[in-house]
Amino acid sequence: MYPLRRNRRLRTSEAIRSLVRETVITPQDFIVPLFVVEGKGVKKEIASMPDYYRFSLDLLVTEVKELWSLGLKSVLLFVKVPDNLKDNIGTEALNPEGLMQRAIKTVKDAVPGMYVMTDVALDPYSSYGHDGVVGNGMIVNDDTNAILAKMSLSHAQAGADMVAPSDMMDGRIFEIRTLLEDEGFHNTGILSYSAKYASAFYGPFRDALDSAPAAIKDVPKDKKAYQMDFSNRDEAVKETLMDIQEGADIVMVKPGLCYLDIVRDIRDAVDVPVAVYQVSGEYAMLKAAAAKGWLDHDAVMLEQVIAIKRAGAHMMASYFAKDVVKLLS
Ligand code: PBG
Repeated sequence: MYPLRRNRRLRTSEAIRSLVRETVITPQDFIVPLFVVEGKGVKKEIASMPDYYRFSLDLLVTEVKELWSLGLKSVLLFVKVPDNLKDNIGTEALNPEGLMQRAIKTVKDAVPGMYVMTDVALDPYSSYGHDGVVGNGMIVNDDTNAILAKMSLSHAQAGADMVAPSDMMDGRIFEIRTLLEDEGFHNTGILSYSAKYASAFYGPFRDALDSAPAAIKDVPKDKKAYQMDFSNRDEAVKETLMDIQEGADIVMVKPGLCYLDIVRDIRDAVDVPVAVYQVSGEYAMLKAAAAKGWLDHDAVMLEQVIAIKRAGAHMMASYFAKDVVKLLS
């Protein structure tokens, strides 16, 4: 007697394993998040994100050229705004000469083919570190939406290909889509952070942009009144379907690894591309463990990005993008 089916037969060599492999990672899978600061000649490492940097515009040029040469064709821009330009309503976010608007033009001038996505939320511009306008101890939904729509228009006017609202206000996709259409930006896309959880994994990102919610009286200390409760699963599908109805071109789950059940639910429920954001805390955890010699950095990194894609992501925003692509080439 012998087993009729020996599954190990298809695992006997790398050649046969690669032939039956269900998920492969390529440079096209990635959106590269980039942090931009004012100044000249700045390439400053983020303390809680080893080997990840904030760039001034001149060095951003070098970086995006390198990304392009590696086959990385889309970026997601974030800006660190000086404190003196922050207020409660994100006034600076609408400045046509603001850092984001200049960053968009800089990337487009340096690498015209690069697909430029931009973060849309008030937190980097907010004196309170919140994604929306603060009023009476709350984040005021509809007032925020009006600003987010104008912010999106401003990014589109500066040359952004796609705006990425990360704020979790209700109805903002509709408001953004409407204003973009009214102003003739029919081809400016919307990547909606449709299922974004109130997660402690965003800590290092808030260090990078100095954008943590402020410890001020009558200001919420966390984002739980707008970002989703991480105990919820079905709600993620509801949020995402609503954003698609409102006009989202791509939807996103965030964070990544702890939320792969959500990724699969959404992938099965929608007919638009699904993105995942593998966030700063996920990056920091692996860097820290690898620095201690506790985990094999490259092996774990690859396992993680494959897992995200296997779960159902068509693409992912990841701080590992460059590392992965270099490793594979
Ligand atoms: C802000 C925003 C955050 C991230 C992306 N956009 C932080 C937050 O919501 O507090 C997190 C990204 C990361 O942790 O890598 N709207």
